[in-house]
Amino acid sequence: MKDASRNAELPIGIFDSGVGGLTVLSALRARLAGEHYIYLGDTARLPYGTKSPDTVIRYSAQASRRLVEQGVKLLVVACNTASAAALPDLRRLYSPLPVIGVVEPGAQAVCRLLAPKQGERHILVMGTESTIRGGAYTRAIRALRPDARITGLACSLLVPLAEEGWMDGPIVENVIRRYLEQLDGEAGRPLDCIVLGCTHFPPLAASIAAVAGPGIPMIDSAVTTAEAVEAELRKSGLLRPKNKEETGRPLRFLTTDAPERFARTGGLFLDIRLAPEEVELVVI
Ligand code: DGL
Repeated sequence: MKDASRNAELPIGIFDSGVGGLTVLSALRARLAGEHYIYLGDTARLPYGTKSPDTVIRYSAQASRRLVEQGVKLLVVACNTASAAALPDLRRLYSPLPVIGVVEPGAQAVCRLLAPKQGERHILVMGTESTIRGGAYTRAIRALRPDARITGLACSLLVPLAEEGWMDGPIVENVIRRYLEQLDGEAGRPLDCIVLGCTHFPPLAASIAAVAGPGIPMIDSAVTTAEAVEAELRKSGLLRPKNKEETGRPLRFLTTDAPERFARTGGLFLDIRLAPEEVELVVI
């Protein structure tokens, strides 16, 4: 592919199956305020997390292509499921465009948190069925912390709850309880850390803490992903400085279905008021 991406003025492309990746967009905007962003939520085909790897790869390639066609200087796969299943394919398909996923930054965040503590640590990774089945988090954490004891827990039903904007209350806590009850025996040993291994889960953190019990640190990949993006842009000389004069639109939202719904729940994730007219409907 021809490298049209070497222009600091181009936006950063970000995609997720739905609004979950907006948790990553928030961290990016907090860290890289001078950048422009174009976010695609593939809501027509959500959830990705219960699909087979082949389907996740196909959907991810199509979502990425839509962003690449718009002209982006870097692509963020703000979806753990897509990062776990499709990152090598996306890097190959869109080379030399830098493509950054969220699983490795998530593993780095865990290892940073646990760094001062010696000896075996028990880490619970909550993610979608596809992410947990593929074992990408276990591999990424073990590569940095070989002595880690890692338990994966597929919690796919939390995705539609978050898309519904249901972040707390008895129904949400009961669903979380039903999942956590599966951790018995060995896997039920005291936890040193919970990884929110799905970009839809950070807004549910308080509900997860209410069920899992107090004092267990929770980690997600948003901040470390933003750090990885900054490092990549700096390395390639593509960083757009904060004080640069504004040209064009700093933030664009694309969705593959129901812009008004995206605006409603997306606004909750971003903690801003998002009007349906600000969300463009696209076919991919
Ligand atoms: N937000 C996505 C993730 O981080 C997946 C949600 C879905 O199942 O579509 O895994």
